[in-house]
Amino acid sequence: MGSVMLINASPRAPKSNSRRYAELFVQAWPGESACFALTKTNHPELCGELEHYSDLLLVFPLYADGIPVTLLNFLKTLEEHPPRHRPTVSVLINCGFLEPGQNDVAVQMVELFCGQNGYPFGSVLKIGGGEAILDTPFRGLVRRKLRKLAGAISAGRHRSLQVTMPLPKRLFLRASTAYWTDMGGRGGVTREQMATMEIEGR
Ligand SMILES: Cc1cc2nc3c(=O)[nH]c(=O)nc-3n(C[C@H](O)[C@H](O)[C@H](O)COP(=O)(O)O)c2cc1C
Repeated sequence: MGSVMLINASPRAPKSNSRRYAELFVQAWPGESACFALTKTNHPELCGELEHYSDLLLVFPLYADGIPVTLLNFLKTLEEHPPRHRPTVSVLINCGFLEPGQNDVAVQMVELFCGQNGYPFGSVLKIGGGEAILDTPFRGLVRRKLRKLAGAISAGRHRSLQVTMPLPKRLFLRASTAYWTDMGGRGGVTREQMATMEIEGR
């Protein structure tokens, strides 16, 4: 059994869903692990730290159908400062939409990085409805998949796993629209304003 370093690459790491997923993964991981949140300034420190682990688990959200810029910037630093020993890289990604397949391109981006930089690619867990699922009765499905992910990484296997809420799309859409409309209303933003390209009047 190896040791795993988790990097939370969510731009809102301290309050992120990625943080919750990372914490649940650690509960399922049988060996040594450590979690780090990406910041603008800690890239060199994390590149050095990687040396000590057999596995790296990148935990991040889907942003605009790709990897968030926080992760992109870290990968650029890692490209310039690779560790002597390259860990196997696995991915734990969550997205807002219901379909876990929305995450495919972002996973391919990490896989491409690994192929071009000599990192073995490990396993993947793609989570759909990631903003909501942990606060629903379906959270047990996530826990089960996280255990499978931990088992696959620990055994050095390549597995591609996915999980989402088993809901009809129409129901999900109705519930999520009500959620975001309510959230916008509390921040003084109407549904019509949310439907425009303007952000804070710009
Ligand atoms: C700027 C931005 C872009 C996003 N783009 C997508 C997207 O393309 N597809 C999707 O399904 N969810 C998208 N989401 C939703 C996030 O993936 C989702 O809210 C996720 O749970 C955030 O995870 P985090 O809390 O770990 O950052 C986006 C969210 C933000 C803030």
